[in-house]
Amino acid sequence: MVLASWRFLAAAFAAVLFLHGSRASDEAYPTQSYSFVRNAISAPPLSYYDYIVIGGGTAGCPLAATLSHNASVLLLERGSSPYGNRNITDLDAFGAALSDLSPSSPSQRFISEDGVINARARVLGGGSCLNAGFYSRAAPQYVRDVGWDGKLVNESYAWVERLVAFEAKIGQWQTAVRDGLLESGVVPDNGFTYDHIPGTKVGGTIFDESGHRHTAADLLEYADPKGIAVLLHASVHKILFKRKGTSRPVAHGVVFRDSTGAKHRAYLRRGPRNEIIVSSGALGSPQLLMLSGLGPKAHLQAHNISLVLDQPMVGQGMSDNPMNAVFIPSPNPVEVSLIQVVGITPFGSFIEAASGENFAGGASTKDYGMFSPKIGQLATLPPRQRTPEALAKAIEDMDRLEQAALQGGFILEKITGPKSTGHMELRSRNPNDNPSVTFNYFQDPDDLRRCVEGLSTIERVIESKAFADFKYDAMTFASLLNLTASAPVNLLPRHRNTSTSLEQYCRDSVMTIWHYHGGCQVGMVVDRDYRVLGVDALRVIDGSTFNHSPGTNPQATVMMLGRYMGVKILNERLASEAS
Ligand SMILES: Cc1cc2nc3c(=O)[nH]c(=O)nc-3n(C[C@H](O)[C@H](O)[C@H](O)COP(=O)(O)OP(=O)(O)OC[C@H]3O[C@@H](n4cnc5c(N)ncnc54)[C@H](O)[C@@H]3O)c2cc1C
Ligand SMILES: *[C@@H]1O[C@H](CO)[C@@H](O)[C@H](O)[C@H]1NC(C)=O
Ligand SMILES: *[C@@H]1O[C@H](CO)[C@@H](O)[C@H](O)[C@H]1NC(C)=O
Ligand SMILES: *[C@@H]1O[C@H](CO)[C@@H](O)[C@H](O)[C@H]1NC(C)=O
Ligand SMILES: *[C@@H]1O[C@H](CO)[C@@H](O)[C@H](O)[C@H]1NC(C)=O
Ligand SMILES: *[C@@H]1O[C@H](CO)[C@@H](O)[C@H](O)[C@H]1NC(C)=O
Ligand SMILES: *[C@@H]1O[C@H](CO)[C@@H](O)[C@H](O)[C@H]1NC(C)=O
Repeated sequence: MVLASWRFLAAAFAAVLFLHGSRASDEAYPTQSYSFVRNAISAPPLSYYDYIVIGGGTAGCPLAATLSHNASVLLLERGSSPYGNRNITDLDAFGAALSDLSPSSPSQRFISEDGVINARARVLGGGSCLNAGFYSRAAPQYVRDVGWDGKLVNESYAWVERLVAFEAKIGQWQTAVRDGLLESGVVPDNGFTYDHIPGTKVGGTIFDESGHRHTAADLLEYADPKGIAVLLHASVHKILFKRKGTSRPVAHGVVFRDSTGAKHRAYLRRGPRNEIIVSSGALGSPQLLMLSGLGPKAHLQAHNISLVLDQPMVGQGMSDNPMNAVFIPSPNPVEVSLIQVVGITPFGSFIEAASGENFAGGASTKDYGMFSPKIGQLATLPPRQRTPEALAKAIEDMDRLEQAALQGGFILEKITGPKSTGHMELRSRNPNDNPSVTFNYFQDPDDLRRCVEGLSTIERVIESKAFADFKYDAMTFASLLNLTASAPVNLLPRHRNTSTSLEQYCRDSVMTIWHYHGGCQVGMVVDRDYRVLGVDALRVIDGSTFNHSPGTNPQATVMMLGRYMGVKILNERLASEAS
């Protein structure tokens, strides 16, 4: 029957759009254009600032906006502006940006050595321009463990939320998932909240009620235009260090290239508090440190990079939280929803869900969401045979499927942490190239155990009374796993007997939820104030510093951290000027 075929499944995955919303009127689009944002082509060959922030991403934008109030700031972003680009602003364009493989795309695809297809941002606003929008704070315990000031953390979250966070409004299918989670013992019901509390809740989203995305770039509205310059298409190739005698290396400038390849230099003004801050993300930050001479000596020598400091921990501690999903075909219509409900279990798995149909808008608006071959998550072909033509054919096959076969949703789980870690290495000296990265999914048995427990919770949700209207009685959990496992969502070999083992299912069907982090971890590469160990006037502030991914989903905390560190750095600066 149709349910058994991969094509059905592929189409089902495609149809259940992770993000699919009604197109709203143009008036509601965020169309900010800032006077202080320019193309790097217009930048002088030489300039001077108090702070140079490298990477206008999820952390870099709130950080630079904050610093601009009491200092002069240069923010350098390699990508373009998110404004006016519907692939970014529209809820239903989730797959469009991720499947655009051109050099001007806001998304740069990479494939980890594990064989899982992944993406990194290349746009002002960073990952907040590509992501699924879910917004949820870190647990108070996480904040205490990291050693942050809880009061300033809360003020910084509130600062972010004033501009970019909204309450998710749930429909029937998400309600069934929520009630199913409660019935399965993921209690209590915490209603709608941004807070991380054990139990089941409705979370926040950066999509407003018209389905338009608000991003970290919107936080630049807080900037003082007199204190900030933002350059787009400015790719930083190197941080420059000087060294007096045998003293520590001091960061004092950067070399960046504009889109014509022309070189520019920016230097720090003289002043004891002035700094360069790297906010280039979990791949970009360790990569740029290595390209600048901070990293494992032998590795840098192999790439003919002159050594500034032998730092073997740069690029270590890279982690990606594994995501595993189960597709549940539904006999009844379901609303189109993105992630709205989350179950925060006591054993360290987070249960989230997405539903929807795809074909309402006709072929031209088909998007295929997060499980699509267009974004690389799904293909029945071995990687080498995945030509654009072959993928186009797979997409065409999906287009022909009947709508009734495509109704349903995904319940997915992400484990906290994770405990498994990997590493990153350079492939070349070009900062625009992806480095090579290995995440070692499920290397730690505790990660696998939590995946299995998460899947068992998903089974209870699917079999709950609350969820009964949205599954076929005849389909057992084992057959749903079988169905889902027949969709190749990564480059790993499939085991067709996986229904007998949840462990094997976890390994075979592992995907990314794009919460990868590490590479410049606190205690290894930076201290608790995010200063790079062993050198002066250099910090790293972004997701590369995390030992574990914060909250159920990290973006709230990444934006918070940008604001938080901006306030702390300015306080230090103003205190030193006063004394
Ligand atoms: C598809 C997807 C879905 C996701 N879904 C969610 C979700 O629903 N909820 C959630 O909370 N999180 C989600 N995330 C994760 C979240 O978006 C990221 O964790 C977060 O954006 C990382 O922020 P960052 O500041 O560390 O890095 P980024 O936001 O990636 O910022 C780094 C910036 O630095 C720039 N850069 C890098 N190198 C250089 C250089 N050499 N010169 C100049 N600029 C440079 C990059 O272009 C980029 O803009 C998702 C992520 C993705 C990709
Ligand atoms: C710092 O910036 C804030 C906000 O713009 C301003 O109120 C304050 O006066 C500034 N402080 C100094 C010392 O410049
Ligand atoms: C949107 O994405 C599609 C591919 O998914 C691409 O063809 C198109 O050029 C993109 N549009 C913009 C404005 O980037
Ligand atoms: C921060 O806010 C959370 C709720 O969002 C609360 O639980 C916590 O106690 C607050 N922390 C401080 C230090 O006020
Ligand atoms: C490093 O330099 C040596 C000597 O100039 C050269 O032979 C080698 O190919 C270079 N390696 C790389 C990775 O650039
Ligand atoms: C799962 O698929 C395998 C191979 O296609 C089949 O032999 C097995 O019976 C299926 N199990 C269930 C529970 O559907
Ligand atoms: C599943 O198949 C793999 C090989 O494809 C085999 O190694 C494994 O033992 C099988 N597991 C079970 C439970 O049959």
